[in-house]
Amino acid sequence: MLSRAQWILSRFIVQLTLGLWLLVGMTIQVAAADVREPPDTALKSEVMVFVEADDEVLPEDVVKVSISKFKYKPAEITIEPGTVVLWINEDPMGHNAAFVAGNIDDVEQDLAGPIVGQGERFAVRFNESGRYDYYCTPHPFMKGVVIVE
Ligand code: CO
Repeated sequence: MLSRAQWILSRFIVQLTLGLWLLVGMTIQVAAADVREPPDTALKSEVMVFVEADDEVLPEDVVKVSISKFKYKPAEITIEPGTVVLWINEDPMGHNAAFVAGNIDDVEQDLAGPIVGQGERFAVRFNESGRYDYYCTPHPFMKGVVIVE
């Protein structure tokens, strides 16, 4: 027969083992999400175009959105046609912006930008008015919208 102390110890070891496995599983899942390749970024749209995110070529009136703690800040922006929006990733893991196809006239698949690491950026010029909902490909719960009017 197990003493009460031995029984408590054995329960503790079982729970600790299960907890560790859960932690390992979650870590592997998060790591896998962060290294997943972006979908086809060769897709092009006339109404919105990925442009070079270099300070040398960005216009002075560029609108900045930071990506921090799994959030786009601000998550909603309103701009005029022709404006360039610059996203800057401040998180230690990779993020992007994938624009929902349903809201863009000339594309049939979501238009996904490259996944960028900490301190990296990407920029998009919005040429026509409309509502451009987007999300992060590896973290679809991250959502934002660009309203062009
Ligand atoms: Co993300």
